[in-house]
Amino acid sequence: MAEAASGKVNMEKMVSLCQRRGFIFPSSEIYGGLSSCWDYGPLGVALKQNIKQAWWHAVVQERDDIVGLDTSILMHPRVWSASGHLEQFTDPLVECKSCHLRWRADELKANGCPSCGGELTEPHMFHLMFKTFMGPVEEEANVVYLRPETAQGIFVNFQNVLNTTRKRLPFGIAQMGKSFRNEITTGNFIFRSREFEQMEIEFFIKPGTDGEWFDYWLEERRRWYEKSGIRQENLRLREHTSSELAHYALKCYDIEYQFPMGWSELEGVANRGDFDLKQHTSHSGKGLTYLDEETNQHIVPYIIEPSAGVDRSVLAFLCDAYDEEPDKDEIRTILHLHPSLAPIKVAVLPLSRKENLAKVAREVYADLRPCWMVQYDDTQSIGRRYRRQDEIGTPFCVTVDFQSLEDNQVTVRERDSMNQIRIPIAELEKTLAAKLKGEPLSVLPPGGQIWKKQEG
Ligand code: GAP
Repeated sequence: MAEAASGKVNMEKMVSLCQRRGFIFPSSEIYGGLSSCWDYGPLGVALKQNIKQAWWHAVVQERDDIVGLDTSILMHPRVWSASGHLEQFTDPLVECKSCHLRWRADELKANGCPSCGGELTEPHMFHLMFKTFMGPVEEEANVVYLRPETAQGIFVNFQNVLNTTRKRLPFGIAQMGKSFRNEITTGNFIFRSREFEQMEIEFFIKPGTDGEWFDYWLEERRRWYEKSGIRQENLRLREHTSSELAHYALKCYDIEYQFPMGWSELEGVANRGDFDLKQHTSHSGKGLTYLDEETNQHIVPYIIEPSAGVDRSVLAFLCDAYDEEPDKDEIRTILHLHPSLAPIKVAVLPLSRKENLAKVAREVYADLRPCWMVQYDDTQSIGRRYRRQDEIGTPFCVTVDFQSLEDNQVTVRERDSMNQIRIPIAELEKTLAAKLKGEPLSVLPPGGQIWKKQEG
């Protein structure tokens, strides 16, 4: 299997780490799993929430030109005729005449079945939306679909948001949430699944300004991944060829990441033109226009759409953070996650389980928990506990030792360098807050000192 740029992670190692440490499990595992569906464990859910929060922070909280929205998964079925999904949201499917496995025709490299070499049927178009029924009667009139993208919830609320926020162009609406696609082929762990989460921005602009806004968003989104810890050399931009372009897109670029299986799409940035607002206007009969204050004319805004996958981001951040280094007779596995994304920010480790030490450690733990996700661990040797925290990406470990009982100080160990400082317990919260924001470990609070390496 191809390796990611760090050369240290492959998909087997990543799946194994995620299952072993409680990041991600196969869905319904005790029943043998459900193909292409995944459950996020205690650490996975924390990582995923941190990624979503970082995105929301960057695109909604820190900007005054984007507002948030959270629309329902089930929408009026006519939304999907207007959007073009009922007609166009298909992939070409072929079936092997011998083993009956099904494949996406446009992804096959050879003529025969990739599994048994058998002859394949002619392709037919397979619809990717999940269908269900609304209400107690299962008949055609009650068919509804699970949304295949969150974007349509934004378009149909364009006028609601405009009226209630009185935003002026250019402005955007952001939403994150579940989407569903009955993909023909899934795989590569959480990279392509049938139930996944998206983080989408629909940015409404005046026609004619789409070129500059497209470039702006492509660069803005690429930079966000970099700022959140992904190495520059593992990101690249790729323009869609005209045959790849979705039916609504005038132009599209993928922000690709170098996953263990090779370069693949992490996020798409599309120029959707005025396709969506015009389609919903003609299908709903409701005008989705904007009164341009300069010309006093009603215009249909163009839309630039940066559309990211949450699960693909989880995979990319995990792969990029993964590292192994020699450590005595073993290997130290580390997740160099950005502190803002790390599921656990601080681990509190009493050197022994003795009552007097545990009491102080428990007090430190209780003091820090309102600030961050903090873990308390008093099992096995201190060295093993450090390794366990390194493997899940915890940026700092606080060790309470017997000397702490005398001097009211604790050691703070940094994950990446393994260096330690010793500081007064009274300075701990403030110091950790600064270090989590990127202050060098060597910057000491009053009464602090550089400490020896204590790897146990
Ligand atoms: N609204 C536009 C749109 O949905 P897309 O390129 O089909 O565009 C956007 O999807 C992002 O959603 C992708 O870049 C990817 O990160 C994520 N995504 C799409 N299909 C996925 C799947 N089957 N499993 C996991 N993530 C998926």
